[in-house]
Amino acid sequence: VHDELTTVIVFGADGNLARRKTFPALFNLMYKDHLADDAVIIGYARAPLSTTAFREMVYRSIYAPTVANQPRTHFLNQVTYEHGEFNEPASFAALREALEAREAQQLADWRVRAGIDADAPAVQQPSRVRLYYMAVPSFLYYGICLNLKDSGIATHKKVDRFVLEKPFGRDSTTCNELLAQLALVLSEDVSYRIDHYLGKELIMNLLVLRFANICFEAIWNHHHIASVQVIFKEKVGLDGRGGYFDQYGVIRDVMQNHLTQILALVTMEQPLSLSAGHILQEKIKVLSSVRPLARKDLVIGQYAGYLDEESISNKQSRTETFAVAVLHINNPRWAGVPFVLKAGKALNENRAEVRIRFKNVPGAIPELSACPENELIIRVQPNEGIYWKISNKVPGLHFEVAPMRMDLTYQSKYDQGELPEAYERLILHVLNADKSHFVHADELKLSWHIFSAVLHELEAAEDDRPVPYMRGTRGPALADELAQRYGMRKFGSQ
Ligand code: BG6
Repeated sequence: VHDELTTVIVFGADGNLARRKTFPALFNLMYKDHLADDAVIIGYARAPLSTTAFREMVYRSIYAPTVANQPRTHFLNQVTYEHGEFNEPASFAALREALEAREAQQLADWRVRAGIDADAPAVQQPSRVRLYYMAVPSFLYYGICLNLKDSGIATHKKVDRFVLEKPFGRDSTTCNELLAQLALVLSEDVSYRIDHYLGKELIMNLLVLRFANICFEAIWNHHHIASVQVIFKEKVGLDGRGGYFDQYGVIRDVMQNHLTQILALVTMEQPLSLSAGHILQEKIKVLSSVRPLARKDLVIGQYAGYLDEESISNKQSRTETFAVAVLHINNPRWAGVPFVLKAGKALNENRAEVRIRFKNVPGAIPELSACPENELIIRVQPNEGIYWKISNKVPGLHFEVAPMRMDLTYQSKYDQGELPEAYERLILHVLNADKSHFVHADELKLSWHIFSAVLHELEAAEDDRPVPYMRGTRGPALADELAQRYGMRKFGSQ
């Protein structure tokens, strides 16, 4: 019998995020025995649904033909639904009642399993964890947290953990306002801000790769590295999310968070340990050394047809769906190295990766002087893996040198089947109270600082329109010109 009882309350339980990510992740965790079979799971939203109707919705979101019905049925039986407002004390009083009834039953069942008589005094009590998952827009966080506190549900002691989703503001000012407001009702140690890229296998591997391998660590600096690219490319355009996306654009949606987090992990100094606090210390240091992005180092694009999308109401919108930014890190390790962040929607492929291009061998012998530079590619998705591009003699009697790949493709090297989803890992980390893969308020402030000024500049200059590009292409050619200015070939070339 496990000695911790778990409750998960999902706010915004009928929304896109909860259905696409949160419930499938919770189901997989229970299926894989990482979330206790007796966990209380409550969906909370405004829509007046019955638990039965809600379970049907969750069923559709967790259905996979490869999984038998029995574990799904068990999971669904653990899920109930409560509806109410996000800002109304009365709704939270009702939530408290429903929650306490379910937890009382959970505890009674636990006592039976532990062989404790129903009327025995409650000497042996399991500990309890409550996870509040905010799958709602961030302007609702404060009201929800305040009501959770006022209704007596959340005690903000060790029991409670709050999972918060981006967007955390639109710029430095709004982010700071949001953080300050939330700080009134929520302390940093119980806040788990999700950046789901931090839950991806290859991103979780970055510090291991760098700091457990002398062959990487020894050359991880400006003496040997010519440039670093952090690339996020997507084929899909708005995917019905125009209402949200048009307010944000790809710099705020992907670059300020996912790509900047990756940048921090690629460039930070060695932490004292892999504990959350030590990792945070180094991320903060390096993020503080990133110079705010300059307009001249940024190319923005918008795919042709964006303004005709049904979900775009502002037909004059200048929101960017593509951006390439060159960042600079002002410290001795990285002086002079261009860091290129590239993010785009409606492009020719789905690909997220880090590409580290090394310098040529200094004073190479004449026969080898034309060899291309080495490149290390950390492929986040799809087809996860790590590979080196090196020069190698083509085997045979003749002398010919050609580029080759040293390949660590996960599919062929690890016999594991599907890798866990990022959300699954991150929720598991919350359950374990491990904060090493979450975003601290201080990191957020620093990453907004990098982009805020240029975002304001773009907004203010009405004639500064994103460059159009065709759907299904590599994005605007102007991005390649920016690359060339920094002595690079095309960005993201294979
Ligand atoms: C989200 C962005 O954070 O990440 C989306 O809001 C983007 O616009 C998504 O599509 C990409 O995530 P993934 O895991 O599919 O690469």
